Amino acid sequence: MLDVNKTTGAPPVIRREDYSPPDWLVPDISLDFRLGAERTIVRATLQVRRNGSHRRPLLLNSEVEAIHRVTLNGEPVNYWYEDQVLRVPIEGESATVETEVRIAPRANTQLMGLYESNAMLCTQCEAQGFRRITPFPDRPDVLSRYKLRMSGDKALYPVLLANGDLVASGEGEGGTHWAEWHDPFPKPCYLFAMVAGDLVANRDTFTTMSGRKVDLGIWVRAGDLPKTAHAMASLKAAMKWDEEVYGREYDLDIFNIVAVDDFNFGAMENKGLNIFNSRYVLADPDTATDADYDAIAGVVAHEYFHNWSGDRVTCRDWFQLSLKEGFTVFRDQSFSADMGSHAVKRIEDVKMLRAAQFPEDAGPLAHPVRPDSYIEISNFYTATVYNKGAEVIRMMHTILGPERFRAGTDLYFSRHDGQAVTCEDFVKAMEDASGVDLSHFRLWYSQAGTPRIKARLVNRTEGVHVALEQEVPPTPGQPVKQPMPIPLRIALLDEATGRPTDERLIVLDKASDEIALDGAPARPVLSINRDFSAPVIVETDRSAVDLAFLSAHDDDPFARYEAMQQLMLDTLTAAVSTGGADHAPVIEAVRQTLTDANLDPAFIAEAVLLPSESFIGDRMAVVDPEAIRARREALRADLGRTLEPLWRDAYRAHVANRYAYNPAAKGARRLKTIALGYIAATGAPDAAALAKRQYDESDNMTDRQGALGVLVNGYSAERDAALQAFYERYRTNGLVLDKWFTTQALSTRDDVLDQVEALAGHPDFTLANPNRLRSLVAAFSVNQRAFHDASGRGYRFLADMILAEDKLNPQTAAKLVPPLGRWRRFDEGRAALMRAELERMVATPGLSKDVFEQASKSLA
Ligand code: TRP
Ligand code: ZN
Repeated sequence: MLDVNKTTGAPPVIRREDYSPPDWLVPDISLDFRLGAERTIVRATLQVRRNGSHRRPLLLNSEVEAIHRVTLNGEPVNYWYEDQVLRVPIEGESATVETEVRIAPRANTQLMGLYESNAMLCTQCEAQGFRRITPFPDRPDVLSRYKLRMSGDKALYPVLLANGDLVASGEGEGGTHWAEWHDPFPKPCYLFAMVAGDLVANRDTFTTMSGRKVDLGIWVRAGDLPKTAHAMASLKAAMKWDEEVYGREYDLDIFNIVAVDDFNFGAMENKGLNIFNSRYVLADPDTATDADYDAIAGVVAHEYFHNWSGDRVTCRDWFQLSLKEGFTVFRDQSFSADMGSHAVKRIEDVKMLRAAQFPEDAGPLAHPVRPDSYIEISNFYTATVYNKGAEVIRMMHTILGPERFRAGTDLYFSRHDGQAVTCEDFVKAMEDASGVDLSHFRLWYSQAGTPRIKARLVNRTEGVHVALEQEVPPTPGQPVKQPMPIPLRIALLDEATGRPTDERLIVLDKASDEIALDGAPARPVLSINRDFSAPVIVETDRSAVDLAFLSAHDDDPFARYEAMQQLMLDTLTAAVSTGGADHAPVIEAVRQTLTDANLDPAFIAEAVLLPSESFIGDRMAVVDPEAIRARREALRADLGRTLEPLWRDAYRAHVANRYAYNPAAKGARRLKTIALGYIAATGAPDAAALAKRQYDESDNMTDRQGALGVLVNGYSAERDAALQAFYERYRTNGLVLDKWFTTQALSTRDDVLDQVEALAGHPDFTLANPNRLRSLVAAFSVNQRAFHDASGRGYRFLADMILAEDKLNPQTAAKLVPPLGRWRRFDEGRAALMRAELERMVATPGLSKDVFEQASKSLA
């Protein structure tokens, strides 16, 4: 049972300020696994050493099926087991503690600890899964050298993998075999991993900058081997990039990746043995989209980069999670930008931040990048810790410049190699290496909420100034905020010539300020937060004319995209509040962009897309889902009809391309399908046939899914035929079937709710696989119009799904709660219905602390 407060019944809160160093260290551990899916026996030998002078017992977290035996220095010991903690009294300064326990991988539906997936046994230990394998001080500041032996049935588990180096292997009795792995690098237990299964490897090698040869392996089921080429190419590119950009060399002789179908997250950076959700490994043109290819490259790089930013230098405690995650996301974003288009990658990253992190920061679950408290740590693997955390690192990069930033990371890695450290240690290394004072900057770690900036140009006798104001909104537990240091890249564009002044970096560090801008042209237009230099919301007094001008002329591609988005957003919010708005400026700006021969199609594709319905909602006082849908669709239709010849040109220009995987071909595919969407929005009678032809004739999943995504919004016979054909063709491929569920959940049709409820009863739907669950349920909850159906049916559906999933996999269930926490942003009727579902969840007997934390905080 859960550890709960005896009077309130609430699970305990863990606080950052309560941190104290571990009482006992475990410099060495050896593990012996006798593997079986029903039961696995784990013997552990811990060499423990008292840390500091105290008389406290050794505490081992333990959440196993059964504890068979505990000995101290070889003798039976009087241990005490309560509240999932095993207490061992120890007299001396050091000791050998042995345990034998039983665990049950097949019954493990939480997918934490050792579990079975498709007949394979694999582990997931971050954040606190190791305690489900063996009793241990499960905290990241206890670092140990690991030796492991595992044995199991050779036919079931022909491949036995773990962290580090394979040191011995052999045959055992009764058709078994065994392997021994030693990891020479001390590591926290959350980085422990092992895998046993019937797997084959795509093998390759990488020669590091100092000339060491590393054996690479990507392990999958036999039939999936042809789908591993892209992941392998991405891995080698990432290894090279980390040497060139950060001077980081790989440190073991082996680097393995294993693909697993049932996985709570994207992937996991276990030392020398990364374990991946198979969706971030497997790809071929027939089954994976361009977005999938990009995500694979990004996640492979992310996990690889953790070898330094996470494994060699790890976190002191889980409040420091962004130390490794924010930094590593920044590193993978930079890698992906270098592999393709910087502009398009920046646009994608900002879209993601705005879709996931801004709403989090504006709602009841808002928390600082370095949180102050938690009930369940897995609820803090959030967009704030990851994506805002990456923006915080990026701002330091901007303020310091690339050379001083690199000096900072060099110092950080050398100073803290082999240590478990804090966000403060990272900032300190940046300061020490650069000589730049970052004391004020640290607020980005402690203050939650998205700052709002107001910016306008003012004419003074001395010349043009930019007047800036900032406000950081209150967030839970932080009613009053201090002004933040906000790095803003700024330039002025000459309205007469379209030419920019030199870009300046201004760090706004007060509530308001006025800064002189030299060399301003006679008619200046403000270009601000260029390249999205700070994760803030900027409001300006720029007119539709100014924004249209910037969308055609700004020399910073992100700012150019942003001007178009702002113009669209202003038009749509006006339309929603007044029932109609002048579409002409948007249509003209889109026409300009579409016909600008100097622009990359991938950029055009992003620029001509209207802001999402939820992003429009985020900018309104009270979200009106029906009006947003109606006004947005009206603008889409108007854009489609007015520019129809241009959309058809854009479509035809790219329709005949044979598949190739390169940035130009990807951009062409993207623009083509966006053009198809606009053609369909006109209501043209041939649109469904055009989409169906794309579906039938395409030689790749990007075009096929793109066509399906257009068809699914209509009522044509082609729609049903394509959905049916897709299902028949891919019904045995789980990853592709996920797309089939998602595409339908995202439809703009009025009957989506019926469809989604029916799909939840489909024989291929299951709560046991997190990818499948998310493909329907998480996708549906971002379909703003459908999820927020005024009847409350969408809310009830989501809450039912969360409660059902909670019984199997609380961590995955809890991730689905946040959309219900947005109730304050809606009208009273919807807010009451959303609250009722949250209250129903909190009142459910046996609720996990994972869902309890998210739902109870969402009600506050
Ligand atoms: N550290 C992993 C990552 O970034 C995240 C992760 C994987 C995770 N599996 C998890 C976090 C399970 C919590 C629980 O890349
Ligand atoms: Zn990570």
